[in-house]
Amino acid sequence: MPIVSRSTDPRISVIGTGYLGATHAVCMAELGFDVIGVDIDTRRVRRLSAGEVPFYEPGLEALLRKNLEAGRLTFTGSLAEAVERADVHFVCVGTPQRPDSGAADLRHVDAAVSGLITAGLGPDDLVVGKSTVPAGTATRLAARLAAGAPGAELAWNPEFLREGFAVDDTLRPDRLVFGVAPRGMAERRLRAVYAQMIGDDVPVVVTDLTTAELVKVAANAFLATKISFINAMAEVCEATGGDVVELAGALAHDARIGHRFLQAGIGFGGGCLPKDIRAFQAHADELGVGRALAFLGEVDAVNIRARARAVALTREVLGDSPANRTVGVLGAAFKPNSDDIRDSPALEVAEALRRAGAHVSVYDPAAVENGRACHPNLCFADSVVGAVAGAEVVLVLTEWHEFRELDPAVLRPHVARPVVIDGRGALDPHRWRAAGWTYRALGRPPR
Ligand code: UGA
Repeated sequence: MPIVSRSTDPRISVIGTGYLGATHAVCMAELGFDVIGVDIDTRRVRRLSAGEVPFYEPGLEALLRKNLEAGRLTFTGSLAEAVERADVHFVCVGTPQRPDSGAADLRHVDAAVSGLITAGLGPDDLVVGKSTVPAGTATRLAARLAAGAPGAELAWNPEFLREGFAVDDTLRPDRLVFGVAPRGMAERRLRAVYAQMIGDDVPVVVTDLTTAELVKVAANAFLATKISFINAMAEVCEATGGDVVELAGALAHDARIGHRFLQAGIGFGGGCLPKDIRAFQAHADELGVGRALAFLGEVDAVNIRARARAVALTREVLGDSPANRTVGVLGAAFKPNSDDIRDSPALEVAEALRRAGAHVSVYDPAAVENGRACHPNLCFADSVVGAVAGAEVVLVLTEWHEFRELDPAVLRPHVARPVVIDGRGALDPHRWRAAGWTYRALGRPPR
């Protein structure tokens, strides 16, 4: 991507340097802007300043280092410094699920905006929300800005990046959504920030603040629904003897349905889809339109059942209680190319089997360290062979390339019984069966 830096360019700050913020800050610097990333976590600021990405994201660390060296990117703990050095401030802080309900916890978003105001936001400043929030949050924050920093504007520009593809999704998004107030200058300034992408024909949707907030939660609700739809079909296949993979393949020929996000298995996890559908539902309840999103409760329930079905299938293939049986688990991250274990279906299945008395050994190419820290009772191995040694059943629960490419013939002598449960539709059943394995998967007949 060509790098341009002119004195009239927007000067950018990014508040919150988690997954979203760190990636956004690095990518904005990569586009040629001067960027300052802000975080209250001083350790994170130190690590990012030293060129170290505190999570696993392919390609991000190289770009971080490149832009630190070019002098376009700095990190700080001080909002005052951000206000002094930048005029477009992206709010990228987390909106986790509240411990007492399904609703989103907005305290970090509120604190970021209040902090910017206290730090002396001026009339030429633009605050751009990127965090996933319930509709109406932006309008409330815009009123707070109007009172606390007259002249400063607020826009909402939701982010659609996927973990594992964060850099590519940020630099080459499917679309840009600008939620702006009428008659403001925000659209012009956002167009300046994203000029290169717009020049590369990335579509721009300009809308009001509320619709922009809704686009994000609706997109995640739709994706979650698609996954739970195919997992519901897997349940029906199990009851009827059908094959969910062949069913999904046939559905996919209809261009209106398509093939993406129709991969049956142990379902969705991570820091976004599960909490976002719950927050969306909780907000609809508050608004008195709970019935409209009641189906998301079923989407959630199908998803949680997918994990339980994987445990039940393991019990079935073991033919008895898992107590004192040896189980090898391949995968801990909620998805491949990530070390994120938040609400990981893989670890939940592994934990359930451990609680049932099995000796479970887990391997993941990137998430062992995080897994150990959060699941001290699980046993972690540092290789595939280490995890499957002596296993009576092997479960593939995250579809890493390394697992897809495994040679079943090479693995066979290491296990006590050659039985594999493919929790992600990652393996070629013909290859595994030809190598003498019993291959089982959710929604697929035993054959
Ligand atoms: C998701 C959305 O895809 C992004 O567009 C959005 O920006 C992001 O949340 C967010 O809100 O920040 P992400 O959480 O990175 O991105 O993960 P996905 O790629 O959506 O996968 C979510 C889960 O669904 C994973 O556990 C994955 O294994 C599972 N999945 C995905 C399936 O079980 N089946 C499928 O067919 C696809």
